[in-house]
Amino acid sequence: MLCKALNKNKVIMNKENVFITNEISEELEKQIINLDKESFTDPNDYWEENKSFELFKQNKKIELAAINKENNELMGYILCLVLTEEEYKQIRIGNHLESDIEIKDVISKDELKENNTYSLYFSIIAIKPKYRRQKLGNILLESVSEEIEKYRQKSIHFSKILSYVVSDGGHAASGKLGLKEVGKNIEGAIVMERIL
Ligand SMILES: CC(C)(COP(=O)(O)OP(=O)(O)OC[C@H]1O[C@@H](n2cnc3c(N)ncnc32)[C@H](O)[C@@H]1OP(=O)(O)O)[C@@H](O)C(=O)NCCC(=O)NCCS
Repeated sequence: MLCKALNKNKVIMNKENVFITNEISEELEKQIINLDKESFTDPNDYWEENKSFELFKQNKKIELAAINKENNELMGYILCLVLTEEEYKQIRIGNHLESDIEIKDVISKDELKENNTYSLYFSIIAIKPKYRRQKLGNILLESVSEEIEKYRQKSIHFSKILSYVVSDGGHAASGKLGLKEVGKNIEGAIVMERIL
């Protein structure tokens, strides 16, 4: 009976309540960086603030933000980076940690060329605590595939996507994107990859 009542009251997010955008203003980016701090207990699990903001300023972040249509509040976001082939290789074999990725190892969106193929690193998904477990993560993850498709339509291709998993939620998210475990990195984090 209690379970039934709880299920009835459970909020499930659907696309009508949420606006997903890849156009990130400086103000929104600051909120995103704060959300990282709120979402991870270990500072090693997210980007150092200045480095993160520098990646944004250099147009090196592929970000999708979920905005509450009712009050324009940031609800959650996803960050992917286009890595140079050399850096992707280091991450794939587990030799580098996320903190080893330098700004020069990330390709700017302005540099992506038609008829070229690139490799993506799925870095972060974070949902504000009050919006968790309402399927918002799933909505954002679906948007990643849509974003990849938008690039494909501009003849910019992604051949593979990789992630380092530091939490159960991260494992579930990578799994939803179709990534499979391919190894461990030097710190024992699971490496997941999908060939697209
Ligand atoms: C992980 C996180 C993004 C999930 O977002 P969410 O909106 O609560 O997720 P959803 O409700 O859309 O659920 C998505 C799927 O992941 C699963 N899931 C969500 N949180 C999970 C968790 N902590 N452990 C295991 N599975 C989880 C759900 O069961 C669901 O699977 P289903 O669709 O097959 O039922 C969110 O909890 C979060 O921001 N956590 C803190 C940051 C973090 O750890 N990010 C991941 C590493 S980058």
